[in-house]
Amino acid sequence: MTRLIVSVIIVLLSTTAANALASTDINIIPAPAKVKIIDGQFELTDQTAIVYLNEVKPVAQYLREHLKPATGYNIKLIAVSDRHPVKPANTISLNLTLLGEVLAFGKEGYILKVLPAGVEIRACDPAGLFYGVQSLLQLLPKEIESSSKVNNVKWTIPCIDITDDPRFGWRGLLLDVSRHFFTKDEVKQYIDTMARYKLNTFHWHLTDDQGWRIEIKKYPKLTEVGAWRVPRQGCWWTFDPPKPGEKPTDGGFYTQEDIAEIVEYAKARFITIVPEIDVPGHSMAALASYPELSCGGGPFDVNPGSKFYGQIENTLCPSNDKVYKFMDDVFTEIAQMFPGQYIHMGGDEAHKGFWKKCKRCQKFKKDNSLKDEHELQSHFVKQVEKILESKGKKLVGWDEILEGGLAPNATVMSWRGIAGGVKSAKMGHHVVMTPSPYYYLDLYQSDPIVEPKTYSLSRLNTCYKFEPVPDGIEPKLILGVQGNVWSEEISEIRHAQYMTWPRGLAIAETAWTPKEKKDWENFAARVENQFARMDIAQVKYARSMFDAIFKPTRDKDGRLVIELETELDNIDIHYTFEGADPDNYYPKYEKPLTVPANAQNIIVSTYRDGMKVGKQINMPIEELEKRAK
Ligand code: ACM
Ligand code: ZN
Repeated sequence: MTRLIVSVIIVLLSTTAANALASTDINIIPAPAKVKIIDGQFELTDQTAIVYLNEVKPVAQYLREHLKPATGYNIKLIAVSDRHPVKPANTISLNLTLLGEVLAFGKEGYILKVLPAGVEIRACDPAGLFYGVQSLLQLLPKEIESSSKVNNVKWTIPCIDITDDPRFGWRGLLLDVSRHFFTKDEVKQYIDTMARYKLNTFHWHLTDDQGWRIEIKKYPKLTEVGAWRVPRQGCWWTFDPPKPGEKPTDGGFYTQEDIAEIVEYAKARFITIVPEIDVPGHSMAALASYPELSCGGGPFDVNPGSKFYGQIENTLCPSNDKVYKFMDDVFTEIAQMFPGQYIHMGGDEAHKGFWKKCKRCQKFKKDNSLKDEHELQSHFVKQVEKILESKGKKLVGWDEILEGGLAPNATVMSWRGIAGGVKSAKMGHHVVMTPSPYYYLDLYQSDPIVEPKTYSLSRLNTCYKFEPVPDGIEPKLILGVQGNVWSEEISEIRHAQYMTWPRGLAIAETAWTPKEKKDWENFAARVENQFARMDIAQVKYARSMFDAIFKPTRDKDGRLVIELETELDNIDIHYTFEGADPDNYYPKYEKPLTVPANAQNIIVSTYRDGMKVGKQINMPIEELEKRAK
């Protein structure tokens, strides 16, 4: 009896130890579907070789290239032709297999087995092997992210057995390169980081009112004129419009050669690019180039970030044959440049006021028995769908394409909350969930008083907790999820990274990990581990999840009461109403605070285990008084 109790205790203790290890040492993001930790470790040395089947040479090369800078090892690649190659010791073997256990997955699934003698990754498609490689890289010490040789690190990998497969097939991020242009190399770097977290769809917002960024050979003015605007800095939407004679010197575009290079770069990382040509609205850069595509005829300037909506046309005329010829020509070249099946046609926020004043539009509406401007927009979208389908592509658009009737085969990106997604799915259409309150990565991620200027708020835990399949909706109609980095307020790629990470990690985990395995506190701990890796990889990210959250309220007498919170359970807040720098010996926040008479500011700092973790926030009482109203 006693012996039994002792063995039960031993089993319990070892299970607890394994769990602790699972949550502390295995920091893979997105969390794999199944992880079993095994005793021991594998050590990568200069004698380790990568064994691969010929057809997966690019994956083997990718792994070799990623191991080389930090280790300094010229790892040998050994090609084999057998699907079940013999596994010599001290190898990493990339095994394409038809074994049933792997076939149960989709093409992105994989099995990763690390044993002291060697590593094996099995998948039924190169994509799966690539994701197995990503997990393997995350199991190595963080120094593996270094771009130069690191001495004094043992390149060990804990022994483990991972069986993994993504929840969704569309795991995306959007980068807006119209409002601010990002160079070819910056875009590549962005794509590379996406791949590290098993994101597979890069939605490239290439055109908007503030810049047309892709060379179209048949319409050279789109980039000669449309890619350039007058330079402005400061607060977007308050900029002065172009002055007479002012030179448009700010901007840039990608040549078709640039595009081919980026498409190839993304393909090597199993990322499909979804190019967006945003029409019929958001088209001022196109109209500045070809004013005859508008209702009124122009002339127009490329918008520099000044207010114009409803006052200056930015919408193509949907009743003009020339516009459809333009669309056909543009999408012919776009379809040739991008091998993916989807092309995004925007469709959002089309102002219809100029259509109402346009004689051609009004006649067109009457001749075609269209009830209103929504039906006119719907006519436009349906024509675009026919054009895209004639080039072998599928249409995806923002949820406004529902208005006036959805095109027959359209995929809908639900951005104004989930309502558009629910409505589309109920009609049997495919949906990508990208609701702005959760997944707009241009939003604040902590208190606006300590963040770069933008609008609205989506903290990391808000972003993490979003569930993409609404109740009552057929799960297979939800293709997946996507975060959107709109760049009105973002002119530097480091700032774009700061807005993307770690919220992009939250989206990657929701996109990949089984719903029941998601766990906020556990995720946050793994995020911290990724921060350490990103520091070495020189990727910028936000530590905003450690900041204090202000919840100003009023007591029954109308006096301000300050409640403070944090996104994480294990953080202490220290505060002062004096103008000093509160460290962890200052009062610790325990309960709602009443403001001392005449206090002008409350200053807070967050600590964990005696270490400062978040930003110090100096909050004017006046600001909290306003917020408590
Ligand atoms: C959008 O944010 N207008 C899609
Ligand atoms: Zn018109």
